[in-house]
Amino acid sequence: MAKWKILVTRRIPEEGMALLAPDCDIELNPHDRPMTRPELLSSAAGKDGVLCLLTDKIDAEFFDAAPKVRGLANYAVGFDNLDVAEATKRRIPLSNTPDVLTNATADMAWALLFAVARRVVESDTVMRSGTWPGWGPLQFIGGDITGATLGIVGAGRIGAAMAARSKGFGMTVLYTEARRNEAFEKEVGARFVGFDELLGQSDYVSVHVPLLPGTRHLFNYEAFGKMKRTAYLINTARGPVLDEAALVKALKDGLIAGAGLDVYEREPAMTEGLADLSNVVLTPHTASATVASRRGMAVKAATNLLAMLRGEKAPDCLNPGIYG
Ligand code: DGY
Repeated sequence: MAKWKILVTRRIPEEGMALLAPDCDIELNPHDRPMTRPELLSSAAGKDGVLCLLTDKIDAEFFDAAPKVRGLANYAVGFDNLDVAEATKRRIPLSNTPDVLTNATADMAWALLFAVARRVVESDTVMRSGTWPGWGPLQFIGGDITGATLGIVGAGRIGAAMAARSKGFGMTVLYTEARRNEAFEKEVGARFVGFDELLGQSDYVSVHVPLLPGTRHLFNYEAFGKMKRTAYLINTARGPVLDEAALVKALKDGLIAGAGLDVYEREPAMTEGLADLSNVVLTPHTASATVASRRGMAVKAATNLLAMLRGEKAPDCLNPGIYG
């Protein structure tokens, strides 16, 4: 049997490449950077399938340029880069990589929470600069974590993992969601509240909603104004859920105490002024960057793509309706 022609838009861990190799003739982006739009469109032309990344925009223009594609596997759980409606209209299956990065992402949200609340990065900078004058009673005072209130915005898999980790710190957990989730409440002892109540009562607000039209700029200046002035915001979901310019202004105006961010509104760019603030901790969209998580994503994406190429429903199909 002839091999399927596929495009892998950036090198992924070897476990995924090895799964694809026996059955696929692979064109791999030779650069360690996202493909440019022209590179993506010309390389996808004539391919049977594509393993793409969250940095690749997959839309009508892409499908027009790649008319033979009969499946796309996104190497990410978030899929706001995919036009699912357009793919569904064309009966092209899509998939993502849920579950395998849940723990890594929740761990990173906690790393950011600790780092910003306990001023780890600021302190590290002072130590390295050789300017620490020695112990002082008023130096680097930060937020209390044990016994504080954690507000989870989005009680999906990662929100639940974030909340579960709070048990060791005796925290009160609030959550907000489109719908009440009784299993989540039982599992982590969380209380369902409205968005405004969560903002007003939480000491730490952690964002775990997908990017959808309804969640874009969910956090605007007005929302920051409803938070406690002593509260911290953590975002490991998607950058555009926050209005980043409003966040910078809110931080400068003292509406909130600080923020820990792994994702940005216009990656890889950051809003001017953000990097100048000492009360933010910034990581480069690396919440899923652990050995097991990235391996798991590679295996999932490859497994999903192979299923789609065989004409089978992928385990993590995003538009199963096309088979109905
Ligand atoms: C995802 O999978 O959506 C993360 O943002 C990147 O791993």
